[in-house]
Amino acid sequence: GMIDFSVLEGYVPYILRGIGVTLLFTLVSALLGLILGSVLSLFKISGIKPLMWFATAYTSVFRGTPLLVQLTLIYYATPQLTGYDIPALLAAGLAFGLNSAAYLSETIRAGIMAVDKGQREAAIALGIPYPKMMISIIFPQALRNILPALVNEVVALVKESSLVSVIGVTDLMRRADVVRADTFRSFEALLLVAAIYYVLVLILTSLARMLERRLRRGD
Ligand code: ARG
Repeated sequence: GMIDFSVLEGYVPYILRGIGVTLLFTLVSALLGLILGSVLSLFKISGIKPLMWFATAYTSVFRGTPLLVQLTLIYYATPQLTGYDIPALLAAGLAFGLNSAAYLSETIRAGIMAVDKGQREAAIALGIPYPKMMISIIFPQALRNILPALVNEVVALVKESSLVSVIGVTDLMRRADVVRADTFRSFEALLLVAAIYYVLVLILTSLARMLERRLRRGD
């Protein structure tokens, strides 16, 4: 029949509670991706053959296979191979973090290489040890350079996080599925969660724009 949002009566709070799940999940995946991606980017510029090889192969595999396959593989293969169940949220966080790291390692590598050579030379001349130089001098500048690309990645994670619904994580998408099954109507619940994802992305991108303006003022 016609679109009738009154079918969602009583379900809206249930759906809205999915926002927290989706956002928290995205945050954890993004942080894991950023940490792993940073390590991989260091491998790629290390000049050490085995590390470079590993990071390149890693990126190739995790970028070259569908995230949905990686997610279900981790979730279903773990109990089959180890005899232990893996919590859905943990499997999901792992899959998304590992996947995101593949993309981010390329972005971060480009960001590091774009930092002026003088910064590195000055740090070496001052006797600053490599880890400290990377963490407090090179990385902050690299991250600032690649902020738009990082925002793109987080936006991708927010939307792709809807995949976790297939392994039962009660995120926004899963809740829409539950309501669809309960009400025998699909359109209303799906339109609502689509609007919620869209608003989340809008908020995220405007926050990022504010942050970018602030960083520019710091120059
Ligand atoms: N849909 C793509 C896939 O299945 C996107 C993966 C996630 N994208 C990202 N930038 N982390 O592989």
